[in-house]
Amino acid sequence: MKLANQVAIITGAGRNIGEEAAKLFASEGASIAVVDMDRARADKVTSAIVASGGKAKTYICDVAEEEQIIATVKAVAADFGRVDILVNNVAISDNKHLFEITKAEWDRVFAICLTAPMLFSKYAAKAMIDGKRGGKIVNVSSTSGHYGRGRAIAYTSAKAGVINLTRSLAIQLAEHNIRVNCVVPNKIGSPVGKDEFNPDRKVVNLRNRPGEPIDLARAMLFLVSDDSDFIAGTELFVDGGCAAMMPGGD
Ligand SMILES: NC(=O)c1ccc[n+]([C@@H]2O[C@H](COP(=O)([O-])OP(=O)(O)OC[C@H]3O[C@@H](n4cnc5c(N)ncnc54)[C@H](O)[C@@H]3O)[C@@H](O)[C@H]2O)c1
Repeated sequence: MKLANQVAIITGAGRNIGEEAAKLFASEGASIAVVDMDRARADKVTSAIVASGGKAKTYICDVAEEEQIIATVKAVAADFGRVDILVNNVAISDNKHLFEITKAEWDRVFAICLTAPMLFSKYAAKAMIDGKRGGKIVNVSSTSGHYGRGRAIAYTSAKAGVINLTRSLAIQLAEHNIRVNCVVPNKIGSPVGKDEFNPDRKVVNLRNRPGEPIDLARAMLFLVSDDSDFIAGTELFVDGGCAAMMPGGD
């Protein structure tokens, strides 16, 4: 058991990547705070973990609201006694061109994709420090944070921010024995904001298959376990090698 006696908060754990991480971490002994704004999704994941002998509880939270983040971290620490791990997984995409997006849409994407990971890290790190055992934080960026796209003007910008947020958090929390890293997925399961998996979704990578949520969950597990003890402030591409390929290269 790689995460025995640890308490993990996973945001956006109601489906896809967050769901798979919650189930994998639970199978490694962690107690899971299943955080999502959709109760039906979150409860389904919590019930599945409990049914297979794990520990989990649902926390309903809109991560765009600071007060709800504060209340969630406080409730998790009260219920489970501590916080050891935070996975800032939740995101939404705008899928908009510059000339279509409104300021309100831009602000919402930034609130959920960039401000929420900062705020959750702030309050969870305080709980980790109170627990006196350090901690681990994993942020979720995207290959969209490295490359421009014809659409998703806000998502690509916010995901780029997540990468440097990770570096600054890693530096600012290092003295508290809190390691912060980030994963960089590309086309995992269904697209962000969608439920249905499309097996025909076009993928260009070195593995010649779409990524699956378990691919991400395993990388997250590595980054929150002692196996990655000497790794901090970095980004791990979990993209089938997509980012290594030069567009139009031979
Ligand atoms: N799916 C991909 O192909 C892909 C590719 C690159 C990066 N990523 C990243 O991986 C992470 C997970 O993506 P996914 O595809 O599993 O997402 P998803 O859209 O399938 O699931 C997100 C979950 O977050 C919840 N949620 C949405 N807004 C919320 C809010 N304001 N407060 C609380 N919960 C909220 C939803 O209810 C949902 O259960 C994201 O950070 C995403 O950017 C995904």
